[in-house]
Order: sequence, then C-alpha cells, then structure tokens
Amino acid sequence: MAKIGVFYGSTSGHTAKAAQTIGDLLSANHDVTIVNMEDISSLDDLLEYDNLILGSSTWGQGDLQNDWRDPFSEMDDADFSGKIVALFGAGDSEKHGEHFASALGVLYDKIVEKGGKIVGETNAEGYKFKSSLALRESRFVGLALDEVNEPDKTKTRIETWVKTIDDAFS
Ligand SMILES: Cc1cc2nc3c(=O)[nH]c(=O)nc-3n(C[C@H](O)[C@H](O)[C@H](O)COP(=O)(O)O)c2cc1C
Repeated sequence: MAKIGVFYGSTSGHTAKAAQTIGDLLSANHDVTIVNMEDISSLDDLLEYDNLILGSSTWGQGDLQNDWRDPFSEMDDADFSGKIVALFGAGDSEKHGEHFASALGVLYDKIVEKGGKIVGETNAEGYKFKSSLALRESRFVGLALDEVNEPDKTKTRIETWVKTIDDAFS
C-alpha cells in the first residue's frame, strides 16, 4: 500500500470531481490523501509525498489553473528526483482546441526538468483538438478530460487510467 498525495487545482469543479473519483478508486489499494491546491501553504506540503498525482485544468491560453501559479514558481527550487508523478486535468477540446489540456504539458516539463518520473501517459486517439502542449509523440503526458464536450467519456477514461497507474506507485 503506497502513500499517495492527489493535489488538484480546479476553478469550476471539474478537475476536483475527477480528483475525488481517482482517489476513491486508488483507495482500494493505497493510502490516498486528496488536497485542493488552494489549501496548501507551500510546495513543501506536496513534496512530503514520493507518490504524487497532480491535477490542473487549463485556463487562459494553455495556462495552469490559478491555484498552481505560486507553487509552480516554487518548483524552480524543488527536487523531484525519486518522485513518481501522474498528471490529469480538465480542458475544453472544442472552444480551446488550440491549447487543449496544455496545463498537463506545463507540469510535465517542469517535473521532468526537476528529476521526477512521470507515469500514466495516455493514448490521444479518440480526442478531437487542434494542438496541445500535453502531447508527446501523439501521446498525452497524462489523463486529459473534457467535461464540457465529452462528459459521458470521463468515467471510463478515469477507470482505464487508474488501472494503468495503480501498480506504478510503491
Ligand atoms: C477563459 C477560459 C479559458 C480557457 N482556456 C482553456 C485552454 O487554454 N485549454 C483548455 O483545454 N481549456 C480551456 N478552458 C476550459 C476549462 O479548462 C474547462 O472548462 C475545464 O473543465 C475547467 O475545469 P475546472 O472546473 O477543473 O477548473 C478555458 C475556459 C475558460 C472559461
């Protein structure tokens, strides 16, 4: 049973709801704590965990959700080596299809730069969008959700994804 911290930033509740579902599913095999980024005092709260699941919806034009801004700046001085990190977040593939779920890519780049290991990449087939910073060679760096246009796909996407990351945490 791994100790996992699920930290999410969510403005209208979509990524928050996904965090809860992910946490509930992983709780069968792991000790899971779910934290809203608006409630942390500093990045240190997050760095207490070696197993992390980080969620951010995408805002502006491919930006992180607001509550990630200060902690993201703190990442410049952080060390993620030895940490296993999975990423997820909600976006809008139609109205914001040029930056779909790009926040995942922003987090990915920083965590890799700081030595973290990313798990839970997903197949981008079945999504319709123009471009995304979350894409690496036609795969998403994490779980991209679209509660605006494809809410009916969310449950299956989460369940499939959780099965792929369940064993990666120890
Ligand atoms: C002003 C505005 C900007 C947005 N920018 C993006 C974007 O760049 N990329 C994207 O995928 N979604 C974008 N979205 C859509 C949100 O990410 C989407 O509504 C998401 O479900 C919000 O999730 P949350 O409730 O967890 O914050 C934007 C929405 C608004 C209102």
